[in-house]
Order: sequence, then C-alpha cells, then structure tokens
Amino acid sequence: MEQEQEREQGREQAAAGGGGAARTVGRRAVLGWAGAGVALGAAAAGGTAVALGGREAPSGPDRQVVPFHGRHQAGIATPVQDRLHFAAFDVTTDDREDLVRLLKDWTEAAAAMTAGRAVGEGAVGGIPEAPPDDTGEALGLPASRLTLTVGFGPTLFDKDGKDRFGIAGRRPEALADLPHFPGDNLDPARSGGDLCVQACADDPQVAVHAIRNLARIGMGRVAIRWSQLGFGKTSSTTPEAQTPRNLMGFKDGTRNIAGTDTGALDKHVWVSRGDGPAWMAGGSYLVARRIRMHIETWDRAPLKEQEDIFGRTKGEGAAYGRKHEHDEPVLNRLPADSHVRLAHPDTNGGATILRRGYSFTDGTDGLGRLDAGLFFIAYQRDPRSGFVPVQRRLARSDLLNEYIQHVGSAVFAVPPGVGGAGDWWGRTLFS
Ligand code: HEM
Repeated sequence: MEQEQEREQGREQAAAGGGGAARTVGRRAVLGWAGAGVALGAAAAGGTAVALGGREAPSGPDRQVVPFHGRHQAGIATPVQDRLHFAAFDVTTDDREDLVRLLKDWTEAAAAMTAGRAVGEGAVGGIPEAPPDDTGEALGLPASRLTLTVGFGPTLFDKDGKDRFGIAGRRPEALADLPHFPGDNLDPARSGGDLCVQACADDPQVAVHAIRNLARIGMGRVAIRWSQLGFGKTSSTTPEAQTPRNLMGFKDGTRNIAGTDTGALDKHVWVSRGDGPAWMAGGSYLVARRIRMHIETWDRAPLKEQEDIFGRTKGEGAAYGRKHEHDEPVLNRLPADSHVRLAHPDTNGGATILRRGYSFTDGTDGLGRLDAGLFFIAYQRDPRSGFVPVQRRLARSDLLNEYIQHVGSAVFAVPPGVGGAGDWWGRTLFS
C-alpha cells in the first residue's frame, strides 16, 4: 500500500517535472475549459457540473479533463479541441479473446490518459529492468481536454467473407460500405481499417502520446494501417465560440450541430434503440474522408469566385443576401451549385450531420505542391441518411470540386460510451 502511494507520488512528481509546490499538481494541473475558448468555463469554474452530451463536465481542479465515462463516447459532442491524431488499425490476431483483451486494455489506458494520468505504472514508476508502461512524452503536460473515441470498421465484422471474431451477424446495416462517389481517387493505404481511434486534444503532443501508447499496448494484436494528424479544427460544436477557418480561408462549422443541442444530437447523431442492433444504442457512426485541396490553384482564384463557390462571404462568413454569419441562409439566393446550397439539409431531404474535421498539411508532394487539405470527420445516426446523400449531391455538382479531391475514406460504428469501472469499449458488442 505504502509502495503504491510512493509510486503514485513519484508519478505525480515526475509529471510535474520539478520540485516545490508544483510537484503535487502533475498533469492534473489545469487551465480550464474557458481557457480553451469554451463558454462552459464560467459554469464549470463556479463548481457546477455541466451536462454535455450525456456526460458531466468536471469542475474545480479537473477542469481540463473531459470525462471518459458516460452514456456516449466523448469526442463527438465535446467542444472541438485544437488538435487531432486519428489512427485506423488492422487487427492482426484472429483470436476473439485476444481482441476482447485488447479492448479492455485500451479502455483502461484511455481512462487514465484522458484523466491526465500515465498508462499503468507510468514512464518512470515501474521496475528498472522492464520497459516503462508509458512512453513518457506527456509527463508534465495537463490533460489538455484529451478525448479518445473508438470505432469498429466493416472489416472487423467480415473480412474477405471471413467472420474472424464471430460477430458478422451483429454488423449493423447502417455500417454499410460507402459507395463510390464521382471524383473519388481513394488510396487503399489511406482508407478503411478494422478499428479506429480518434484522439483530440488541445496539445498535439498529448494526442500523439495517446495514439502511440494505444498502438504500443496493441502490439501483436493490432497494427496501424494509416493515421492522420490534424491541426486547426475546421468545425465548431460551440456556436458561441468564434468559428474557425479552413485552409481556403473560409469560416467552417457555422451551421453545425451544437454539442449542447441534445434534441438535435438525439435526432441526428446518437443511435437510438430500435435503429438496429441493441449493442449500438447510444453510439454513432463516423465517416472520415481525407480531402486534398489544390491549394495553389485555389490561391489563384479571384475572391468573387471563391465566395460564389461557397455562397458565403469570406470575411464575415454571411450567406449571400444576408448580413451576419449566423443569419439563416436563403437557399435560392445562393449560386445553384454552391457548396452551402448543395450541402444544406433542405436540399437533402433533411439529412444533417455533425462535422468535426481538421486541416492537415503533410509536407509536399514532390511536385512543388503542398499535400494539404481537410480531414473531414462526420458523425451521424446512420450514414445512409447522413453523409451518403449529401456527398452524392456534392460529388455530382459542387463548384468546390474543381479545387478538391477525396483521397482517403473510412466508415466506423462508434459504440456507446463506457459506463464506469468494469465496463469497456465494445462490451455491448462482444458480450
Ligand atoms: C475540402 C472540403 C470541404 C470544404 C473546404 C468545406 C467547407 C465548408 C464551408 C466553408 C461551409 C460553410 C460554413 C458552415 O456552415 O460550416 C461548409 C458547410 C457545410 N459543409 Fe462543407 N466543406 C467541405 C466538404 C464537405 C463534405 C465532404 C461534406 C459532406 C458530405 C460537407 C458538408 C457540409 C455541410 C452539411 C455544411 C452546412 C450546410 C448548411 O447547413 O448551411 N462539406 N463547408
């Protein structure tokens, strides 16, 4: 017991990275939700827990921690953090028990890391003869609102006609393979995956640390298939915060589902009982698309053309014919094939998605062009009535298509949240 206390203390001290009073603070030292531009800060600072997508935002000294446990997984309705590290994994074992063990190990590690703690015995707390449980690069960093969101891809259920884990019969119909869309130029090496983990945090080092440690824990059971770093969130789930801009310079996320709009979340994002298999109730579906932007061509396009493409002004972000960013667009005032007109729910029989994407720049492509764009992420109750109809329309005639190309694609079933100690990611599917 004493030893355990000492270890805990050692971890905290190492985490604080120095002596004196700071020693006892560790990664739980906090800056607060308000510091991240989230309007929930005021309530949280007052010591009141704030309901958010079925989970409680902690108050007091844990304000920079997004609760891991809850009815829904964090990282969907959660106010969008600044950074992303997204990883898709191939499961390399065919043993169901191995996979279940992995999901339990991941859950335990995820609960620790999202709370600002190290994995297992930590980076420096274990026995000197063994590799540390935690890789260490997040020592001394606050939790940074880290969220980890897990998803199950179609190939987890059925790979080349093989039911590796005895769950083929539990695959939801909503987890259909995405159709081919006109203009798609998908790289298989950047598409698909048996599992995914979306790590979002306000500090990229915290997000990368989380994915790295999950990959390390999964060694021999999973291998990273592809991954994507994202910066500069391109969406907002907090309408009162300033809307971020994408790499084309436009405000992105103006009309999105707010993380506090429980009515819209229930209607469009969370899977409800009766939607399909019971194990998905409280979950959601994630569509990821790596969308390359032809930045250099875009940068030569006149301002008027750029604005016509979206049907919104570049400065204010107002829809054509309206004054302010948040004034409702009047669709027939927007150019016929403008992005906003085509993507709007009224054009698509009400189809509504929660967008949570990030910009990316992955160096250059060897031809003097930036390999940059938007890593698009959408959550919805059913992709067949969410992303698919919207993208079908956009792929056909969006004016934006001249300047973008979809080069990666994946879809995942995101199971419900982890209820508490003893529960684990995927329990409802595998029990
Ligand atoms: C690089 C690709 C893309 C860029 C640069 C982009 C940019 C934008 C911008 C600037 C807006 C207007 C501001 C806002 O309301 O958020 C917008 C709106 C929207 N976009 Fe995109 N977008 C892209 C791809 C997509 C894709 C692939 C989809 C879905 C299939 C999509 C769905 C939407 C929706 C639903 C809206 C809101 C329309 C409304 O209700 O007014 N976007 N996008």
